[in-house]
Amino acid sequence: MKICVLPGDGIGPEIMAEALRVLEVFRGEGMKLEFEEALLGGGAVDATGSPYPEATQKVAREADAVLLGAVGGPKWDALPRPQRPERGLLGIRKDLNLFANLRPAILYPELANASTLKPEVVAGLDILIVRELTGCIYFGEPRGITTEDGKRVGRNTMVYNEDEIRRIGHVAFQAAQKRAKRVCSIDKMNVLETTQLWRDVMIEVSKNYPDVELSHMLVDNAAMQLVRAPKQFDVMVTGNMFGDILSDEASMLTGSIGMLPSASLDANNKGLYEPSHGSAPDIAGKGVANPLATILSAAMMLRYSFNNEASALRIENAVKKVLASGLRTGDIWEEGTKRVGTREMGDAVIAAL
Ligand code: IPM
Ligand code: MG
Repeated sequence: MKICVLPGDGIGPEIMAEALRVLEVFRGEGMKLEFEEALLGGGAVDATGSPYPEATQKVAREADAVLLGAVGGPKWDALPRPQRPERGLLGIRKDLNLFANLRPAILYPELANASTLKPEVVAGLDILIVRELTGCIYFGEPRGITTEDGKRVGRNTMVYNEDEIRRIGHVAFQAAQKRAKRVCSIDKMNVLETTQLWRDVMIEVSKNYPDVELSHMLVDNAAMQLVRAPKQFDVMVTGNMFGDILSDEASMLTGSIGMLPSASLDANNKGLYEPSHGSAPDIAGKGVANPLATILSAAMMLRYSFNNEASALRIENAVKKVLASGLRTGDIWEEGTKRVGTREMGDAVIAAL
C-alpha cells in the first residue's frame, strides 16, 4: 500500500511525524506500507513556485492514499491567489476527484469539560458531517474581481449539477446505514435555487434507502441547532461552503478541533486523510501541537482506503486509553490532567498500541 505523505506547513511536519511513527508500529508488525513524501502548500511554493507541483501530482496520483498534515500560513497570504497554499489543497482535492469529505465530530467522554458547552448538552455526541468537496461556490465559474462601470466587482458562482448532488447523497445515506440511520440535509432553499435542486435530489436519492430517515434543515437554523441541541444529529450532508463552516462549528462542540480527523474520498475509496484543523502558525515548531487528529486520520485511512477496520479500531482505542490516562496537549488541557507535548503524546499512543 503506497502512501503519499504531505507534511505541509506550520505544525504539519510535527503532527505528521507522530502519525508516521504510529504507522511504523504496524509496518514493524508486517503491514506492507510504503511512504513517499512530497511537497504541498507554502513549502511547495517556496521550492517550486507552485502549491501543488507536478512532482507531487505524480506521487499523489500513483499512491493508494494520501496523508496530509496542514497547509498555509501568514508568510504566503500576500501571494497571488493561484500560488496560495490553500490553492494546493483545493487543487489536490479536485485533481484526485475527492468529492466526499467525511468529518466526524465525536466527543470523547474524558473531554466533556473541554467543550465550551455544558457537558450534558454534548455528552455522547457523535455526528458525521458529509461535505461535498469538489463543487459549489469553491469551484464555480465565473469568478474573480473585475472592474465594471468604474467599480470593482467581486464574483463567485454557487453551482451544482444533479449528478454531483446525487453521488454525495449516496455517500451520506450509506454512511447513515452504518450508524443511527438518520440523514439531515442542510440547504438554503428558501433563497438559493442551487440548494432547491440539492433538496429535490436528496429526496430522490432517499428513495433508495427506505431504512434511513431523511430530514431537511436550513443552514442558519442548523448552525443554531448545532449549539442548542447537537445530539439531534446523526449524519449531516451539505455542500462545500456550508460544510466548511458547519464542520468547524461541530468540531468545537467536542472541545478541540485538534482532535478531529477527516477523510476525503473518491468514488473508489481512494482517499486523502487530514486533520480538520489548520496549520496553526502561532504554535508551529514549538512541539506543543496536538497530533491526535492526524493520528486518527491515519486510522481513517486504514479503515476506508485499506479496508482494515481492526487496525483502525486499534489506533482509536489507543487514543482513548491515552486520554483516559490523563495526558493532554495544551488545547485540551484542564486542571487535574497532565500537559504534554506533541512527541510525548505520540509516544503515549504508541505505548498504548
Ligand atoms: C477546510 C479548510 C479549507 C477549506 C481551506 C484551507 C481551503 O478550511 O479544509 O475546511 O475551506 O476547504
Ligand atoms: Mg474549513
